[in-house]
Amino acid sequence: MLTLQARKSKSLSGSLTLPGDKSISHRSLILGTLARGTTRVKGLLEGADVMSTASALRQLGGQISREEDGTWRVDGIGLNAFAEPAEPLDLGNSGTGARLLMGAVAGSGITAIFTGDASLSVRPMARVTNPLVEMGATCTARDGTYLPLTMSGLASPMAIDYASPHASAQVKSAILLAGLTARGQTRVIEPAASRDHTETMLRHFGVPVESETLDDGRLSITLNGEVDLNAADIVVPSDPSSAAFLAVAALITEGSSLTLKGIGTNPLRFGLFETLMEMGGDISLTNTRVEGGETVADIDIRHSALKGVSVPASRAASMIDEYPILSVAAAFAEGETVMQGVGELRVKETDRIALMEDGLKRAGVEVSSTPDSMTVTGRGDGTVNGGVTVDANHDHRIAMSFLVLGLASADTMTVKGAETIATSFPDFTPLMRQAGATIDEA
Ligand code: S3P
Repeated sequence: MLTLQARKSKSLSGSLTLPGDKSISHRSLILGTLARGTTRVKGLLEGADVMSTASALRQLGGQISREEDGTWRVDGIGLNAFAEPAEPLDLGNSGTGARLLMGAVAGSGITAIFTGDASLSVRPMARVTNPLVEMGATCTARDGTYLPLTMSGLASPMAIDYASPHASAQVKSAILLAGLTARGQTRVIEPAASRDHTETMLRHFGVPVESETLDDGRLSITLNGEVDLNAADIVVPSDPSSAAFLAVAALITEGSSLTLKGIGTNPLRFGLFETLMEMGGDISLTNTRVEGGETVADIDIRHSALKGVSVPASRAASMIDEYPILSVAAAFAEGETVMQGVGELRVKETDRIALMEDGLKRAGVEVSSTPDSMTVTGRGDGTVNGGVTVDANHDHRIAMSFLVLGLASADTMTVKGAETIATSFPDFTPLMRQAGATIDEA
């Protein structure tokens, strides 16, 4: 087990290039495999989660390799070409890998067993398997919803019209992937827009996907099945969810001035930065551009005095992975930060509300929560005690959040189980050190 300690640090500075977006990286391997032709992927995130998806795809017959210059090459096998895997597909810690591949398997005439680590094995899968079963797949899961799970797909599943109770890109994407081999129109209606990388990449691969906001504010996404995906090269933007940790580190550490280059600024992923700006964060975007259908910019961040704000539930989907690090920013802000409509945090890699509340309280911060909200009250003088040990509990974002807290708290923060950071951000510690952070192995 890796234990890391973060100490009060001098100002963070410099210009950093961060690793590729995790969501887009998973999708580039999956869609590349389902396409006809060769997809070259530049900037793929080489984190453990994406590597789990790559090995599962290889077990399904995918041809994925890394070239010498770091480009990933995916030789597509086309739709309905999966081989039945002899061994279970072990998706490790990756909810995205597991759920998206369940959709792809549901739309092909094979059977596969899905397994994962201790954290993934207690995350609910019925939200994905229920609609896939409506499409004709057969699924048996432990207690009806947990891994290990066996999924048998159909070469020609039924197209469905599905109103999802969750604003979840994983649910939406699984249904759209199964819909690729269905006859007719598959439609997903989301209560609020979740990240749209699957839709953007399908269009990039030549598949028409319609997105429409309904009169009641819900979002409808449709595609017609029995279409081919045509391979197209992909440049993966840097991950805004990883940038979030450096951005908050710079905001709370005195004298800091950081530039983060080539960060994805898709509005459906950018809620944290919007919130930090409302809190008074000195954040500006330069060099804004579009790459492969995704917007990208360089982001300049300077140390700032922050004020608490109320974050509306309507923003939750656009920053769902960023609430742990927002709660760290809130701990250093003046007054109350209220995070509404965040119940989904309870079924991520861990119950993120419970873990943040516990660690922050022990570090001297006032926190309260309900099943669906969390409130953090900063002391107002920009200080936090720190000085406690936190177990990451297989959750990379919990580990990184408490290390960032340690950079500006009075006493050292210790994080056990920090090896989990490698699932999404293998270079976190070297990049933080490069910027000036004091993070050491215990
Ligand atoms: C992801 C979707 C989100 C997010 C996860 C990645 C994706 O999950 O939390 O880290 O790549 O589709 P949900 O779809 O369950 O909200």
